[in-house]
Amino acid sequence: MSNEKTIDISNFVSTAADQGTVVAGLPLPSFSHIGVEPISGACGCIITGADLTRPLEPAVLGEVMKAFEHFLVIVFRDQALSPEQHKAFSRCFGELTELPQAPTYDGHLDMQEVRREAYEEKNVVPSFEHFHTDSPFLPRPPLCVVMRALAVPRFGGDTAFSNAYLVYEDLSAGMQKLLDGLQVVYSGKDIWAKNAKLDKDKRLRLREEHSFTEAELENIHPAVRRHPVTGRKALYATTAYFKRFVDWSEEESRALLGYLQGLAQRAEYQCRVRWQPDTVLVWDNRFLLHRGVHDFKNERRHLVRTTIIGERPI
Ligand SMILES: [Fe+2]
Repeated sequence: MSNEKTIDISNFVSTAADQGTVVAGLPLPSFSHIGVEPISGACGCIITGADLTRPLEPAVLGEVMKAFEHFLVIVFRDQALSPEQHKAFSRCFGELTELPQAPTYDGHLDMQEVRREAYEEKNVVPSFEHFHTDSPFLPRPPLCVVMRALAVPRFGGDTAFSNAYLVYEDLSAGMQKLLDGLQVVYSGKDIWAKNAKLDKDKRLRLREEHSFTEAELENIHPAVRRHPVTGRKALYATTAYFKRFVDWSEEESRALLGYLQGLAQRAEYQCRVRWQPDTVLVWDNRFLLHRGVHDFKNERRHLVRTTIIGERPI
């Protein structure tokens, strides 16, 4: 006679079925006008059935926006967009903005480029090999970035993303409470002066002239920001352009920031997107962190982008 106990698994099965599939921290929405394939359990999806060279049908655009809100980074393949088509699609997300520091693309002041030539041994922007959000020093930092690949390495050169909602939601109640009360000073004022001190081959390709005021280059934002419609909270503190937490010393600020920055490195918050020529990405720059992965050599990587202005963080 066996002493083994039998386990009734029906409860587990029915529980899983009732709860449904959760991706990026929320139940997976359904789509009927586009194809949507999640990239990881944390963020990102690949969209099929949308031609970005032409205005999108309202039903298709509605689902593209739903996918963007849910997955935070959406990927389209084989989109051979002219700069004007790129800008027209970008305007579905809001108003385009120039950036004071990022190099512009081919005479378009409202487009930027990210470029590493094959002869360049290393990335010229090493500080952005940490997860970050773009231009948090602006009074209204970018809502999203629409980026398209012109030339990519055969292997490597991915862009990685980390979901800042999930980072916040996994913190203890005590740490959430501490962060909820904190504000961050972000500043882009000194990047030109710092750059000028570097050896020539180590300098960033910064924009030389811009019309932004000094006040626009330094702002205070909450360390935890809320989605303006849903109220969902995400961590909004990364090393790029970070000066200190308000009312904290720089030493104290760096210690806490170092811990928080480390959380974004955890693989369970991330997805990676492999570029192909004419891949178009739209990523949320408010609730998602990003970084380029410079694991390639002797190959060219050239990406062009638009930046859409966001709300003042709340
Ligand atoms: Fe960036």
